[in-house]
Amino acid sequence: MTAIIEAREIHKAYRMGKRTLEVLRGVDMSVQAGEFLVIVGASGSGKSTLLHILGALDRPSSGAVEFDGVRLNKLSGRKLDQFRNKTVGFVFQFYHLLNELSVLENVLAPAMASSGTLGWLSVRNRTALRAEQLLERFGLADRMRHKPYELSGGERQRTALARALINEPKVLLADEPTGNLDSQTGSGILEVLSGLHQAGQTIVMVTHDERIAARAGRVIRLCDGIIK
Ligand SMILES: Nc1ncnc2c1ncn2[C@@H]1O[C@H](COP(=O)(O)OP(=O)(O)O)[C@@H](O)[C@H]1O
Ligand SMILES: [Mg+2]
Repeated sequence: MTAIIEAREIHKAYRMGKRTLEVLRGVDMSVQAGEFLVIVGASGSGKSTLLHILGALDRPSSGAVEFDGVRLNKLSGRKLDQFRNKTVGFVFQFYHLLNELSVLENVLAPAMASSGTLGWLSVRNRTALRAEQLLERFGLADRMRHKPYELSGGERQRTALARALINEPKVLLADEPTGNLDSQTGSGILEVLSGLHQAGQTIVMVTHDERIAARAGRVIRLCDGIIK
């Protein structure tokens, strides 16, 4: 297997008035292509911070992330936007869907953003078909025209998953995707993730829940700002 993400000596500190809060203190880790990696850590241990750094939503104070051979700290402007839009897909605990848009429009939004107005006209039909197929696969065939606030938590998270996958990201990054769901609904989301992994999707998920970690291909632990 080859590493798709390599993180070396990642430090992240936040200034809090006169004090400095060192959240990450030298994280070394890698993600292999095709694996389902789970990072477990207590609440406040820096899981979201680390995941955001791996997906270039945030920058480390020091250290480097290499993603598919590209140094993330070298990206800026359009290249960085493109990376966030196309190379990674993010799923969050609280879904972050846009309530003014339908389910289908939410899923299409990243594809619209990445293709520009003219480009969008030429790929719209193909992309809409892909969005519908994803939504059907996730059991949302009869919810596509609904607004997110009309959906259950599990349906919202499956919508967010479809949105994260619309641009066929190399890695899916999931931040406590079951954290806001009851255990049965959460299990449904984990089954969807397992299915995606079996179909070849590389996944990195963070959670504070050891029971969820049992579902992963490989588990690493974030504690005291480092991987133990
Ligand atoms: N922007 C920020 N400014 C200051 N402190 C932050 C910021 N983001 C996170 N933190 C702090 O960093 C620590 C780790 O946060 P986080 O990565 O969200 O942890 P987790 O996701 O594991 O619960 C927490 O103590 C949190 O309060
Ligand atoms: Mg978090």
